[in-house]
Amino acid sequence: MNYKITTIPGDGIGPDIVREGCRVLDAIGKKCGHSFTYTETLAGGAALDATGEPLPKATLDACLASDAVLLGAVGGPKWDVLPGAKRPEKALLGLRAGMNVYANLRPALMFPQLSAACPLKPEIVAKGLDILIVRELTGGIYFGDRGRNDKGDSAWDTEAYSIPEIERVVKIGFDSAMKRSKKLCVVDKANILETSRLWREVTERMKASYPEVELSYMYVDNAAMQLVRNPGQFDVIVTSNMFGDILSDEASQITGSIGMLASASLGDSGPGLYEPIHGSAPDIAGKDIANPLATILTCAMLLRYSLGLGVEACMIETAVERVLDEGWRTADIAGSARDREALADKLVGTKKMGDLVLKAIEAL
Ligand code: IPM
Ligand code: MG
Repeated sequence: MNYKITTIPGDGIGPDIVREGCRVLDAIGKKCGHSFTYTETLAGGAALDATGEPLPKATLDACLASDAVLLGAVGGPKWDVLPGAKRPEKALLGLRAGMNVYANLRPALMFPQLSAACPLKPEIVAKGLDILIVRELTGGIYFGDRGRNDKGDSAWDTEAYSIPEIERVVKIGFDSAMKRSKKLCVVDKANILETSRLWREVTERMKASYPEVELSYMYVDNAAMQLVRNPGQFDVIVTSNMFGDILSDEASQITGSIGMLASASLGDSGPGLYEPIHGSAPDIAGKDIANPLATILTCAMLLRYSLGLGVEACMIETAVERVLDEGWRTADIAGSARDREALADKLVGTKKMGDLVLKAIEAL
């Protein structure tokens, strides 16, 4: 079967890593009898430079007409001086809203091969670290009414959620928990926020349909603390757009492997939007040193969630594990300067890491 993938390489290291992701998809296709047709489009700073808009209509149209969208990263210091509506990040919000991908799945996974990079004490992560954050992505304060008064000396941003918006993302939380360790934690600020109280009411009404799921609620300030104190208590976390943004950065950092983490943004139907968690790292763009593994693992999520190719997704994940088992590392996951030196020829760049994964896929 042929699948249509829209790619958005974006800015900084985006083109370097998306290239490797596509090579891996092609290798899987070759092995398993699928083919992929790519349509490369512009968004973020690259689109601003070429068209004056962070998200040209042609890009959104191409995304909506495809089976899945693979995004590298957007943004960089060059465009930081621009006003809000013209910033590269605007492209991300436009894509999320335009594709109606309201559920952002951000797994925070510690790879056992890289456990030395985890900044927490070994006894805190003795059982490993595997949390799934489900972040609401198309509502809340990111999209609420905002503005300034006439004098410009007062400003507001509004957090608003409707019952259907809450229901659909909490459902993803419950369904994800059912596929994992059957624990769901709703993170909110229900001691202060009315929106959080509505999240709790809606969740309480839904829980009867998931009798096997152990449900809990936690205030976001406490959750931020518990994530470093005892992260093993969490399985699936479901939360609002803003809290999910903050907690997912924290969760990814405690895995020690931010260059390894993938994400998927999904709606009810239509294509999903897939991107690595890390940013555009403009300082290392085009130098063949960025770690492509997060994007490669993002391609696995793409196969699993948008194309229904679970076996093929597992093949990519296994191939990445093999490459790590063999000791290959890009600089970001190679430890200290001294560790890097000791790695000698096992320290590789972007393209070589891609080659190694291709070889591991062929050998499966
Ligand atoms: C993320 C990013 C974005 C967000 C920014 C770049 C707009 O931090 O994807 O987590 O806040 O959603
Ligand atoms: Mg963020």
